Amino acid sequence: MPSSPLIAPSVLAADFGNLQRDVEMINRSQADWVHVDIMDGTFVPNFSLGIPIVQAIRKHTTKPLDVHLMIMTPEHHVEAFRNAGADRIAVHVEVCANLHRNIQQIKSLGCAAGVAINPHTSLITLENILMDVDHICVMSVNPGFGAQSFIPHTYAKVRQLRSMIDAMGSAALIEIDGGVSQKNAAALLEAGADVLVAGNSVFSSADPEKAIRELKAS
Ligand code: DX5
Ligand code: ZN
Repeated sequence: MPSSPLIAPSVLAADFGNLQRDVEMINRSQADWVHVDIMDGTFVPNFSLGIPIVQAIRKHTTKPLDVHLMIMTPEHHVEAFRNAGADRIAVHVEVCANLHRNIQQIKSLGCAAGVAINPHTSLITLENILMDVDHICVMSVNPGFGAQSFIPHTYAKVRQLRSMIDAMGSAALIEIDGGVSQKNAAALLEAGADVLVAGNSVFSSADPEKAIRELKAS
């Protein structure tokens, strides 16, 4: 675990009418990455952002873009997201029958490669990929929407994943996504998390930069 967590504000919760303003707030803040949620209305019951928005964020951000693909057949689209400006791309283990190939494809494009895992999916599904990935995105809500309640069994899952990663000597970072706030950040770090994604707790705050600072100081 790094001495302080990496913080990745999720622009799903930004004001899209003022996207440049919100991205510039992230630039000024202590945030480390910008988390960008891509939803296809099939893997998850919602649509969110697409390529033009990733390009627009890239144009204005000074921070790495952490793209979270909640889509079927991600292999058809990762190159387009790389070209749009993604620095990191995560695909869901639940949709990848050839996950090792998907990870190699992302790396061959020059991106850091991540795997996202839903709340109900066992960590055993990741056992044979942990040495190949740069981060694991542990979903602490069911993917598809912002501002949902954090699922408490995530703590045990993070502890188990931390043990697996450390036992194998993997360098994969553990990222937590969904319902993260100042209330649960310290406990997540104590369980072994490295990266905290935060949408609602940052953007619904009266002072989003301060909210990021508080998460960073957890
Ligand atoms: C959920 C997304 C999350 C979401 C987090 O499907 O993957 O990244 O933006 O938002 P909050 O922090 O509001 O739960
Ligand atoms: Zn996400």
